[in-house]
Amino acid sequence: EQHDANRSPFPPMKKVIFDTDIGIDDAMALLFLHHAPDVDLIAITTGFGNASVSDTTRNALYMKELFNMSAAVYAGAAMPVGSALGEGYADFVHGKNGLGDIPLTTPMCEAEAMPAAEAIVELVRANPHELSIVAVGRMTNLAMALALDPELPSLIKELIVMGGVFGYNGHRGNVSPVAEANIAGDPLAADRVFTSGIPTTIVGLDVTAETVMNEAYIDQLRQTAGASGEFIHQISRFYFGFYEKVIGKAECPIHDASAVAYLLRPDLYRTEAAVVRVATEGIAMGQTIHDSTRRVFATDDWLDLPTCNVCVGVDAPAVMALYLSTLSEL
Ligand code: RIB
Ligand code: CA
Repeated sequence: EQHDANRSPFPPMKKVIFDTDIGIDDAMALLFLHHAPDVDLIAITTGFGNASVSDTTRNALYMKELFNMSAAVYAGAAMPVGSALGEGYADFVHGKNGLGDIPLTTPMCEAEAMPAAEAIVELVRANPHELSIVAVGRMTNLAMALALDPELPSLIKELIVMGGVFGYNGHRGNVSPVAEANIAGDPLAADRVFTSGIPTTIVGLDVTAETVMNEAYIDQLRQTAGASGEFIHQISRFYFGFYEKVIGKAECPIHDASAVAYLLRPDLYRTEAAVVRVATEGIAMGQTIHDSTRRVFATDDWLDLPTCNVCVGVDAPAVMALYLSTLSEL
């Protein structure tokens, strides 16, 4: 809804659940949420992916403590609901501990007893039509929550997913030529979520790969963003090392923080409404395939299903500036 500047000087708060496999770029996204003045981060739900779920949960608790966050942490899925493309965790990208192998102390605080999928159901039920879910790992926790409560799609305000790739702006997959990691890690879960009717926006590699941090940008963060900038500098050493090996340049795409950017400023993205299905087997496993034509094909796999908003374009300089200014303490 539009903010009514005549009634209150403050924009309305967005209540958010962050579903994540923390992860270097997940950590960057979490700090974005933490610093955004109009975000009330009520929960962090974790899952396997960049590291094991016990490591991603530890990472969430570590950051909660380090940055004094009030969000409750709920541990989630340790494995996919269906088959996954590839094996193991992305430790070659994010380090063995998921945070670029910086030294980590054991957090004093603990995760809640309730599993993530149950917590999602409970929190959505307690805040009907009010919760935004920003999901930047596998869709497993969400698929499990849908199985527990099929009425969730009509109760969630919006779901913003970092995942998938549709071929816009010349971008292709990062796990196979057609598959992106979050979707490839649990294609069945993603297919269930994208066809569920939850009002969903998909922020895929098509746009996340358009926004790129280099060393100069990290230096700017380090100079202006206090403890957050220093933390981002530390965790990004390993990440940059990985990208230097793969693309020959010390820079990284802003994947997960792009989902937060969409939450804060959807006007910075161009979207297309389309039915989105996910290939759950075969050589195209993990591919996100969209159709906005509503044509009758030889298959009716895309017919009469709810649509998602697929991000097809981005104002990249504006997203980069938004991240910097939100974290800046100057
Ligand atoms: O493909 C990029 C995505 O995979 C990001 O969410 C990253 O953190 C990993 O989970
Ligand atoms: Ca992630």
